[in-house]
Amino acid sequence: MSDPFRLDGRTVIVTGASRGIGAEVAHAISARGGGVVLVARSADALAELSAALPGPSAAVAGDVADTEVVGEAVAAGEALGGLWGVVNNAGINPFYHPVTETPLSEWDEVLRVNLLGTAAFSRAVGRFLAEAGTGGRIVNLSSVAGLTGLPNIGPYNASKAAIDALTRTLAVELGPVGVLCNSVAPGTIATEMVEGLMTANPVLKERLVSKSPLGRIGTVAEAALPIVFLLTDAASFITGQTLVVDGGRLAAG
Ligand SMILES: NC(=O)c1ccc[n+]([C@@H]2O[C@H](COP(=O)([O-])OP(=O)(O)OC[C@H]3O[C@@H](n4cnc5c(N)ncnc54)[C@H](OP(=O)(O)O)[C@@H]3O)[C@@H](O)[C@H]2O)c1
Repeated sequence: MSDPFRLDGRTVIVTGASRGIGAEVAHAISARGGGVVLVARSADALAELSAALPGPSAAVAGDVADTEVVGEAVAAGEALGGLWGVVNNAGINPFYHPVTETPLSEWDEVLRVNLLGTAAFSRAVGRFLAEAGTGGRIVNLSSVAGLTGLPNIGPYNASKAAIDALTRTLAVELGPVGVLCNSVAPGTIATEMVEGLMTANPVLKERLVSKSPLGRIGTVAEAALPIVFLLTDAASFITGQTLVVDGGRLAAG
């Protein structure tokens, strides 16, 4: 019997693959035999990663909310063969103010990348898979921030809650054609995004760590492997779910 945790012959588009969780997801897919289409704005980082992966890969440099980039990524997946799904991982969290101090332009920027980017790729890949009739997967990155009321990152929180709602809708609409759709909600994971926030707010790290039952933040591998699990046959009866990967932080209240 073939190993249900392998991805041989399947190709997955990974957005936000130039660093952090997305780059680790790409490595983990490739290590399990899958092909990867890497998407992000940093062309050099994508080329370097593509060259380092053991399996088939392609790189598409551009913005996730640009429909031309979305089309190029789907075409690259088709060219690699066996297009099986997308991990909508690209995301930004660059601002830190209360909602009352947040200019609408910041709402626009965060929602455009986090929510519209996810919707644009889900739409294109969902259509492709429905037509191909192969089944497939959509895994979206939300966050524990979308399940709580963390202060000073209102647009980010709202974008992530919306991604969970979008994921449930996709699961219901695409279930009949065998496309399973889930989101993964990480707690705090050591990446550039978090380093940036913590540098701007030194008390934040202490607060995040002290409230974690495990007493630490997570690694990129600890976020990436549950994402990859949802792409595999080992997760063939899971759809419409948000998998919280937070070291018990939410359970601690
Ligand atoms: N780290 C955490 O603690 C944490 C917790 C919960 C959820 N998450 C979620 O996990 C995902 C990955 O986070 P991370 O911590 O790995 O972030 P990161 O290290 O900042 O990486 C973000 C990735 O998204 C890409 N990206 C940003 N804007 C883009 C755009 N407009 N078009 C295309 N690509 C874009 C970046 O590449 P370029 O700059 O090259 O475009 C980069 O590859 C995000 O959705 C984040 O919200 C993270």
